[in-house]
Amino acid sequence: MKDNIILEGFMGCGKSTIGIKLSYQLRLTLIDTDKWIERRQKMPITEIFAKQGEAAFREMETECIRELLTTAEHQVISLGGGLPMKQENRELLGKLGKVFYLKVTPEAVYERIGGDTTRPLLQVENPLERITKLLTERDALYRECADYVLDTSGKSPEEVLLQIREQIEK
Ligand code: S3P
Repeated sequence: MKDNIILEGFMGCGKSTIGIKLSYQLRLTLIDTDKWIERRQKMPITEIFAKQGEAAFREMETECIRELLTTAEHQVISLGGGLPMKQENRELLGKLGKVFYLKVTPEAVYERIGGDTTRPLLQVENPLERITKLLTERDALYRECADYVLDTSGKSPEEVLLQIREQIEK
């Protein structure tokens, strides 16, 4: 198994913020799967969804994880929120490193990104309802591939970071 540190969780759970801080503190390279895909496709996620559809985007996520399995070692990897929904991806993640699930409440997600226009799945009339539904469906799958589950509610990024570092440095 590879020794990457993988951050998973719902949109707005803090993966990007924590990923940046963690990679800086540990002096490790940070890979963000959304950014990896955007670079490869030369277009933003919103455009990929609009032009090629969600199914095509999900294929790109699998391609990304497969490629990281051959290239990434000792890095911090922040996953797009829906990537662990595919069983194949969950199996690949198990080989790629230790998976940290950053658990968050629907309300906290809504507060952080309820009005965001860059998340295609939240461009609906009632984003909170959509967030609650998706989170309920996804929680078990996030848990299924998690080595560690961290509750982020009411915690600062620094507190979450500390919890991750405690596990890594054990
Ligand atoms: C998605 C999450 C997004 C991005 C895409 C789909 C999802 O990533 O991959 O909009 O299905 O939850 P973030 O979790 O980084 O926002």
